[in-house]
Amino acid sequence: STSAWEVELNLAINVARECGIIIRNARDKRMTGSVMAGPINTKMNTTDLVTETDVEVEQLVKRSLAQRFPEYAFVGEESYAAGEKTVLTDQPTWIVDPIDGTTNFVHGFPFVAVSIGLFVNKTPVVGVVYNPILDQLYYASKGCGAYVVDNARNTVDKTEEHAVRLPLVRQPLGPVNTSVVTCEWGSDRSGNNFEAKCACFRNLAADRADHGGMAHALRAIGSAALNTCLVATGQLDAYWEGGPWIWDIAAASCILTEAGGVLLDANPPKDTDVIVPISGHGFECRRYFAIRPSTNGYKDQKPFA
Ligand code: IPD
Repeated sequence: STSAWEVELNLAINVARECGIIIRNARDKRMTGSVMAGPINTKMNTTDLVTETDVEVEQLVKRSLAQRFPEYAFVGEESYAAGEKTVLTDQPTWIVDPIDGTTNFVHGFPFVAVSIGLFVNKTPVVGVVYNPILDQLYYASKGCGAYVVDNARNTVDKTEEHAVRLPLVRQPLGPVNTSVVTCEWGSDRSGNNFEAKCACFRNLAADRADHGGMAHALRAIGSAALNTCLVATGQLDAYWEGGPWIWDIAAASCILTEAGGVLLDANPPKDTDVIVPISGHGFECRRYFAIRPSTNGYKDQKPFA
């Protein structure tokens, strides 16, 4: 069916691909040790990295989107870092992370993504997540399903005509002890947030029956957007994190939910299928939990932390 947001979706895909060229080139320079790669700066602490490429890409996205939709609001990771107010209203609002997985980008680990989401009435209507290193594009628009163009699989035609509808894997979600779960440490490594993360990792990893059994494996991909897309494809069963920002998951939340997945605000723990992670929070979401379709699965179990 034709998306009510087709123009926005196509624009976001084109902009994401354009950004991908910049990111790929910058990453190549970085990997060859070129001085042109520029410094690695930090924000909140020594694990919270930002580069000139993050800022350059965000400016390109912001400019390109505003050119076509000047009346839409904009929330971006680096604009926020530069002191811009990021109040989410009911108005159409682009929510952008120019490089989700900046640490991966800096270290050459190939899970890096441009993330462009559009929210209307505080609800995701368009999501585009593009990994330019692996040339994998995930996208969705409200009511029209989620898709992936995976050029690791498809080398013939690199366009949306060859998109595959998600989820690729449709088996029902099993209990924790048959699942691969991704969890992230994030950049907040102190206080309650750090303790919650430690508890989550322990509960999932330990051989203890009272926590629903141990997961088959734990992973940390290093990009909230790609973690969520990997759950949408069925390659991972669940993703938990204590404290991602809205730009980390805005686009991917549209992709996940259009693929039939669920996004839960687990703080405080709820067993309802709450989709919008940021209602009431403005721009930040604390602890959420992304799962694949299930008749019971994780819903009957205690939250991980
Ligand atoms: C971060 C990554 C990381 C997650 C953090 C995010 P950034 O985004 O997605 O995997 O653990 O919570 O903030 O800083 O690379 O854009």
